[in-house]
Amino acid sequence: MDALEAIFTRQSISSVRPDPIPRELVERLLSAAVQAPNHYHARPWRFVVLQGAARERLGDLLASILQSAHPDLPPAALDKERAKPLRAPLVIAVGVAKAEDPREVAIEDVCAAAAACQNLLLAAHALGLAARWRTGEAAADSRVKTFLGLDPGQPLIAFLYIGFPLNGQLTPPQRPSFEDRALFLDSR
Ligand SMILES: Cc1cc2nc3c(=O)[nH]c(=O)nc-3n(C[C@H](O)[C@H](O)[C@H](O)COP(=O)(O)O)c2cc1C
Repeated sequence: MDALEAIFTRQSISSVRPDPIPRELVERLLSAAVQAPNHYHARPWRFVVLQGAARERLGDLLASILQSAHPDLPPAALDKERAKPLRAPLVIAVGVAKAEDPREVAIEDVCAAAAACQNLLLAAHALGLAARWRTGEAAADSRVKTFLGLDPGQPLIAFLYIGFPLNGQLTPPQRPSFEDRALFLDSR
């Protein structure tokens, strides 16, 4: 699959098989991610790979955070929250590290980390994997960032859910055109 085909046929997929993703594939995804452009070669992205029981520990934390905010919630609601990280066998959290070089600009480092996420999604698609970028309230919670070993004061921009697709061939995505979002300034 070439780059353009990957770009035009990638789509977010939530339905995945529970089968674990082999380590070589996980490393290939991370390797693709770090090919992204980044200013001052800051490499601001940080990846936290969650598989197996690590996802359960994250789920327990999510449920306890929800319960502390809403003590009267029924157990079913907490169970639903606890199960969220189990929606795929591989979850990669993507954080943005604090600048080490004084020339770094915060928004640029977020852009670089987001470019790494998109690289990873495209690589997953090209490798026959299904993926979905998620965030939600958990991504903004300092307790979640601390659990992941990320700086609680820095952005956590993605939970990339990845697995082997459950369904076969999907219809290619139909997305709105660029026309109402682009302006051409020419010599006239
Ligand atoms: C920064 C960011 C955060 C997102 N967070 C969520 C999310 O929490 N839940 C969700 O269902 N989709 C989320 N999405 C959107 C999906 O990942 C997906 O891109 C969108 O539904 C469009 O589908 P497509 O990728 O097939 O075009 C997020 C996308 C981005 C870029």
